[in-house]
Amino acid sequence: MMGYVRLIFLSTFLSVSMTSETFDAMEGEALVIKCPRRNSFVKVTWYHTDTNKIIPAEEEGSRVFSSKLFLWFLPTSTEDSGNYTCVIHFSSNRTKSFNMSVWVHPYKKGVCFPSQIRYPNDTGRGKIVCPTIDNYKNATLIQWYKDCKPLQGERYLQKEKYIFINNPRKEDDGHYTCRFIYTHKGNVFNVSATRIFISKAKHSPLPPQILFPKDKDVIEVELGAALSLKCQARLGIKKQPLDVVTWDVNNIQVKYLDFSRFHEESHFFEGYEQEYYRETTLHITEIRKEDLQANFTCVVVNEMHNTRATVRLQLKAQYEGLQ
Ligand SMILES: *[C@@H]1O[C@H](CO)[C@@H](O)[C@H](O)[C@H]1NC(C)=O
Ligand SMILES: *[C@@H]1O[C@H](CO)[C@@H](O)[C@H](O)[C@H]1NC(C)=O
Ligand SMILES: *[C@@H]1O[C@H](CO)[C@@H](O)[C@H](O)[C@H]1NC(C)=O
Ligand SMILES: *[C@@H]1O[C@H](CO)[C@@H](O)[C@H](O)[C@H]1NC(C)=O
Ligand SMILES: *[C@@H]1O[C@H](CO)[C@@H](O)[C@H](O)[C@H]1NC(C)=O
Ligand SMILES: *[C@@H]1O[C@H](CO)[C@@H](O)[C@H](O)[C@H]1NC(C)=O
Ligand SMILES: *[C@@H]1O[C@H](CO)[C@@H](O)[C@H](O)[C@H]1NC(C)=O
Repeated sequence: MMGYVRLIFLSTFLSVSMTSETFDAMEGEALVIKCPRRNSFVKVTWYHTDTNKIIPAEEEGSRVFSSKLFLWFLPTSTEDSGNYTCVIHFSSNRTKSFNMSVWVHPYKKGVCFPSQIRYPNDTGRGKIVCPTIDNYKNATLIQWYKDCKPLQGERYLQKEKYIFINNPRKEDDGHYTCRFIYTHKGNVFNVSATRIFISKAKHSPLPPQILFPKDKDVIEVELGAALSLKCQARLGIKKQPLDVVTWDVNNIQVKYLDFSRFHEESHFFEGYEQEYYRETTLHITEIRKEDLQANFTCVVVNEMHNTRATVRLQLKAQYEGLQ
């Protein structure tokens, strides 16, 4: 288990350190950042990248200080935003330096995560790691939030620095914030860190919704003319395994009706945010008098539920006199 955990963190760091590592912090919270791990170093110096000013070790009352591989902000202030360099000195007199970028996002009431998240997105199957928590000794994870709402319920399992989502669906995508507390010399600090989760779920149903026609709609027709009745329904997120949108005439499926007069045509598409729709058109080649008494019902079924909408046909006003 631990080996696996390490691997995840390592790969996270590797992918980011190609450019430079970025830390997103909220104003007034603690922030501890870490120089990417190198084995067997002699010492580490930290300084402001722009000014070359060295950041000293902790002294009485210091707010920003360095300690070996770590740089501390207790707590953060918006003026801390900027670039920091850590230089690792090896026994061979070689050095290696890394640039790290810190963003302190101004505190805003009711806002629980920064407007921009630079921690790598999590595109997994439901296990979300609390970013940076490994940099804090003895941090206590308090609560996870999704889009600032506390996560609770049987689908979530909080363990150490993870949250597990049981069977993640598309709706689970969002901003996940972990909030933990960190105690330094008796002072308690809040810390929060947010990452974006994008589920690998292939699809998920939504309560089926018929966009048109409306139930009890009346459609004006002419006898002998052709007619196309379209029914469009939203069925879920991404391609659905069960996506029935079909027409019944007097509760009889179109495929059991007179082929020469009725036939169906159907297609699907994805819209905004991968919402999945199916549209089925009932083509009637020639309207007959009996159709004016019939119920045309669009039946919609997905994995979650079913729904229907029934329309009737009526002669166009100018024909009424001829009846
Ligand atoms: C920090 O460095 C990045 C490039 O590595 C640069 O785009 C950014 O402007 C720098 N930030 C500050 C505050 O100097
Ligand atoms: C490292 O540098 C110091 C002083 O500059 C020198 O005395 C020492 O021999 C060097 N060590 C190695 C391994 O090069
Ligand atoms: C860090 O940033 C400074 C200033 O932008 C640059 O001169 C230096 O080469 C960078 N170092 C690394 C290791 O990227
Ligand atoms: C993470 O996902 C968001 C939303 O889909 C996207 O805007 C952002 O570019 C992604 N970030 C990274 C680092 O891939
Ligand atoms: C770790 O934190 C817990 C609770 O937050 C506290 O009771 C404990 O004394 C702490 N341990 C150390 C070594 O600081
Ligand atoms: C930490 O957060 C809690 C809950 O939001 C708040 O009540 C408390 O005052 C915060 N503590 C500090 C030191 O900011
Ligand atoms: C059409 O539906 C209405 C209302 O449900 C029902 O009263 C009527 O009998 C139906 N007509 C036919 C021909 O099935």
